[in-house]
Amino acid sequence: MDNKHLHKIFKLAIEAKEESFVNFIVNQRKPLPTLKRNNYLWQFADVYTAKSDSLSDFISIKTFDNTTGSLRRESMRKVVLVLTIFLVSCFLLLFAAFMQKSAEANSGYVGVDTCKGCHEDKYDSYAKSIHSKKAVPNSPANREGCESCHGEGGAHVEKGGGRGTGIFNFGPKLSAKEKSAKCLGCHEDTKYLAFWNMGKHKAEDVSCDNCHSIHSGGDKFLIAGKSETCYRCHRDIKAMGNKQSHHPIKEGKVSCTDCHDPHGEFSRAMIKADSVNELCYKCHADKRGPFMWEHPPVEENCLTCHNPHGSNHDRLLVMKTPQLCQQCHDGAYHPGTPYTQFQSFTPPAKGTNPATQLVGRACLNCHNDVHGTNGPSAYGQRFLK
Ligand code: HEC
Ligand code: HEC
Ligand code: HEC
Ligand code: HEC
Ligand code: HEC
Ligand code: HEC
Ligand code: HEC
Ligand code: HEC
Ligand code: HEC
Ligand code: HEC
Repeated sequence: MDNKHLHKIFKLAIEAKEESFVNFIVNQRKPLPTLKRNNYLWQFADVYTAKSDSLSDFISIKTFDNTTGSLRRESMRKVVLVLTIFLVSCFLLLFAAFMQKSAEANSGYVGVDTCKGCHEDKYDSYAKSIHSKKAVPNSPANREGCESCHGEGGAHVEKGGGRGTGIFNFGPKLSAKEKSAKCLGCHEDTKYLAFWNMGKHKAEDVSCDNCHSIHSGGDKFLIAGKSETCYRCHRDIKAMGNKQSHHPIKEGKVSCTDCHDPHGEFSRAMIKADSVNELCYKCHADKRGPFMWEHPPVEENCLTCHNPHGSNHDRLLVMKTPQLCQQCHDGAYHPGTPYTQFQSFTPPAKGTNPATQLVGRACLNCHNDVHGTNGPSAYGQRFLK
């Protein structure tokens, strides 16, 4: 993890004062599982500063300060020192950026109107989009227009336009990283992209323009609908959505992005919650409980029994009952057993027991509340009607 990212994480965690956020970090990096949450950032920062430079030192001290509300005196001197170094370097950086900017202003930028002359269609789509709005702070319109994304156009125009004339194009020749960098220049510091560096898409060289088309996209510049955009690459998941039991994705009531953040998340599989169960509870609150009689696999992970993307068994189940239940429950000693080894299917061979695997096939006829109940005594406890 680089400095910049760590900084961001801490900043967000502290600003949000959000416990769940701190949980994210805890869950993600589990090195110190026994620690109390409040201590976690301290420790995390400690570990980090062990191999750090002055900036991360600064970050961690800042973190201590905000997390605990108290600052140790010996740290204070350090803070002042590091802060001074930090401010001076900030100033220098700003100054350098300023110099560069003014240098750029006289170099290869030609402005939107010049591009418009030859690319009327691209201009039109740009003009309709939020990127062309002067009223939106930091929009390309307030920067270099087309050239905020395409880079300096001077050379391109001089040569009378055409391909391969030095203008930045979002084509296959450039790496995903280079392409995304153009967008991240403005979007990196927003909450939407805060976890981009952590996501699988970035790691797999998927770039912004794989999902967003600036000139021909629809809502939010998406290349297709919210879920259709994903289908372009995730065909297997699309196929699952066509199975008999599925979340109403193709019916348009649920989309991939209700559960996943394509821009990256801390969580496993970029889901929009700390854990799978937390995700499911967002829409299936009745399953959260608390229940007097809990069923351990349900508390543990809904996906033990369900596949979120689709299944040919009822209710998104990963397999049919009774096999589903009998992965864990032995049918042999079921009370009131409808079949026993004395009055049951014929034993497969003399001297062996008959198959007890399928005893009481329709488990759900009687145990119809497998997610947990508050029912009275034995009935509740056995998830019975
Ligand atoms: C004199 C006319 C002209 C001007 C002015 C012009 N272009 Fe072009 N541009 C072209 C032509 C012609 C092509 C080739 C298009 C094609 O083959 O379909 C082109 C291609 C491009 C490409 C693709 C480049 C590649 O390597 O594939 C981009 C991106 C582009 N222009 C952006 C811009 C931008 C941004 C501006 C303003 C800074 C601009 N153009 C100004 C004529 C122009
Ligand atoms: C010069 C700065 C700048 C650049 C470069 C830039 N954007 Fe934006 N973009 C903005 C601003 C400002 C907004 C409006 C505020 C917001 O949604 O954050 C915006 C909005 C968006 C939106 C939301 C649109 C909506 O309808 O809500 C998307 C998606 C987006 N940009 C994608 C991109 C992609 C992809 C790139 C790179 C190809 C890019 N942007 C490059 C500044 C920029
Ligand atoms: C894998 C597909 C995918 C990639 C890659 C991707 N996006 Fe998005 N982006 C989406 C989808 C889908 C939405 C709409 C989310 C929603 O509304 O639930 C979105 C929304 C946005 C928004 C608007 C956020 C909002 O809700 O207003 C911005 C800004 C944005 N993306 C910028 C970017 C930038 C910048 C990159 C590259 C660093 C990028 N995206 C890469 C799929 C993607
Ligand atoms: C927010 C970033 C952004 C801005 C602003 C922007 N473009 Fe683009 N442009 C892109 C991206 C990304 C593509 C790749 C195709 C797509 O996403 O639609 C592209 C594609 C193009 C192409 C097609 C290149 C090809 O291979 O044929 C041209 C031409 C072009 N832009 C010209 C312009 C002009 C002219 C403007 C200003 C009026 C402009 N662009 C503003 C991001 C931008
Ligand atoms: C341009 C291709 C492309 C598009 C479009 C795309 N993805 Fe992906 N996605 C990938 C690749 C490649 C991987 C990594 C391999 C894999 O897990 O399948 C991936 C992985 C994932 C993962 C697994 C992450 C993990 O940590 O295991 C999720 C979740 C995901 N994508 C969701 C989405 C969603 C939601 C959309 C639509 C908004 C989308 N993807 C659009 C290419 C794409
Ligand atoms: C109801 C919530 C939900 C919806 C809707 C959903 N997913 Fe998922 N998805 C999950 C969960 C939960 C996982 C995590 C699986 C795990 O932990 O093994 C996951 C895992 C994934 C993975 C990782 C590989 C895998 O198969 O486990 C990909 C890729 C993926 N989803 C893509 C998509 C796409 C594309 C869509 C839209 C068509 C989508 N998901 C819709 C909940 C959902
Ligand atoms: C964004 C909201 C949302 C999230 C998050 C969500 N679901 Fe759903 N779920 C729905 C909707 C909507 C339905 C359809 C309800 C209906 O048809 O009455 C549904 C239906 C179901 C069904 C019944 C399917 C059937 O064939 O009848 C199961 C099982 C299910 N969800 C499990 C899960 C699991 C497990 C998770 C967590 C991985 C989850 N859901 C997360 C919205 C959600
Ligand atoms: C031990 C296996 C198992 C686990 C774990 C499990 N379920 Fe289920 N779930 C089932 C079975 C079996 C059904 C079908 C019940 C029926 O048809 O009467 C079902 C049905 C459902 C339904 C649709 C019918 C209804 O009751 O609303 C939803 C929604 C659902 N489960 C959500 C969840 C969620 C959310 C979790 C995690 C908190 C979860 N399930 C964990 C076995 C399980
Ligand atoms: C992943 C393993 C697993 C699966 C699958 C599973 N269970 Fe369980 N079940 C357990 C565990 C563990 C307990 C707790 C046992 C205990 O407390 O002694 C339990 C408890 C029960 C109990 C209460 C038993 C008691 O002694 O109070 C019933 C009834 C039950 N399960 C029925 C089912 C049914 C019906 C299914 C299928 C829909 C199912 N289980 C699927 C693991 C599982
Ligand atoms: C005909 C109704 C019926 C069917 C079908 C049924 N059960 Fe039961 N089950 C019961 C009753 C009633 C009890 C409670 C007995 C008691 O408390 O003494 C029970 C108790 C249990 C227990 C607790 C065992 C114990 O020793 O306390 C488990 C686990 C269980 N059932 C699992 C299953 C599974 C798995 C299936 C499907 C293979 C299934 N049951 C099918 C009625 C049924």
